[in-house]
Amino acid sequence: MSERTFVMVKPDGVGRRLIGQCLQRFEARGLKLVGLKLQVLSDAIAKAHYDEHKDKPFFGELVEFITSGATVQMVWEGPDAVAQVRKMNGATNCLKADQGTIRGDLGLSMQNNIIHASDAVDTAKREIALYFKAEELWDYAMPDDQWLS
Ligand code: CMP
Repeated sequence: MSERTFVMVKPDGVGRRLIGQCLQRFEARGLKLVGLKLQVLSDAIAKAHYDEHKDKPFFGELVEFITSGATVQMVWEGPDAVAQVRKMNGATNCLKADQGTIRGDLGLSMQNNIIHASDAVDTAKREIALYFKAEELWDYAMPDDQWLS
């Protein structure tokens, strides 16, 4: 079923000039980009985003890292978009991520793992709403829609 997922290229991914490679993989897979922006996150939005980790020992370091440089926010749409993107990103720890995934091909670290994506449809709804207004998300046709449903 078609759904939307939230994806963010983190400061290491932007700083290492990997935005294009990430975008290219999702486009080539057949997902549709319905929202896109770039920003340096405020402390408040970073803490809201990672609220579920607020009691973890790495929370402070995580907020410091995610606010340390520019990030790119994207919303991708397509059949099973949440699971498709999670699989394409690979395991959280780049060391454990399979070859062929973004983290397995491009990263070395647990924290500096290039990219974030929603882990469930409900999480995607919450994360999309945190970064995008309804009018910043676009519903449009692509010529290959018929082949990618
Ligand atoms: P992400 O998918 O953005 O979700 C939470 C992030 O916390 C995760 O990617 C990692 O960047 C980071 N993270 C998770 N576990 C650890 C850990 N043990 N030490 C440091 N950072 C972590």
